Amino acid sequence: MTHRILFVCLGNICRSPSAEGVLRAKAAARGLSLQIDSCGTGGWHVGEAPYGPMQQAANARGYDLSGLRARQLTGSDFDQFDLLIAMDADNLSNMKRLHPKGSQAQLALFTDFAPGCGADHVPDPYYTRDFDGTLDLIERCADALLDQLS
Ligand code: 4NP
Repeated sequence: MTHRILFVCLGNICRSPSAEGVLRAKAAARGLSLQIDSCGTGGWHVGEAPYGPMQQAANARGYDLSGLRARQLTGSDFDQFDLLIAMDADNLSNMKRLHPKGSQAQLALFTDFAPGCGADHVPDPYYTRDFDGTLDLIERCADALLDQLS
């Protein structure tokens, strides 16, 4: 059974910490016990809290991201997690590059859990500035992921 889930984006200050906060809240609401974390393929923001405007948009929906700190994806994550979920195709190809031979971890694209969502990646609001649009999509994909797990 899949119960250790790692969300992966580029900087780990916008999309993946939001996915972590959203999935954690939605899993708790369903009474599901999951281990959830997030990280970035890049190291520029290691140690930082999620981006301020992202935190504000998440807070407005009841998700508190303030305690999260950015970290970079490592080889041991492929042992520590059953399912590593990318926000976009670049994240996924970087994850595949680091995926150790023999690792049982599954790699997936977040939007693939919600085929009807009309998107093939989670847009980066650090650049689009559409924090609410990104949260709408993350909530939809999180619901679809939980439907598959439960
Ligand atoms: P994220 O967004 O991958 O959703 O955390 C980014 C935020 C900052 C940068 C890249 C992506 N950056 O290069 O500073």
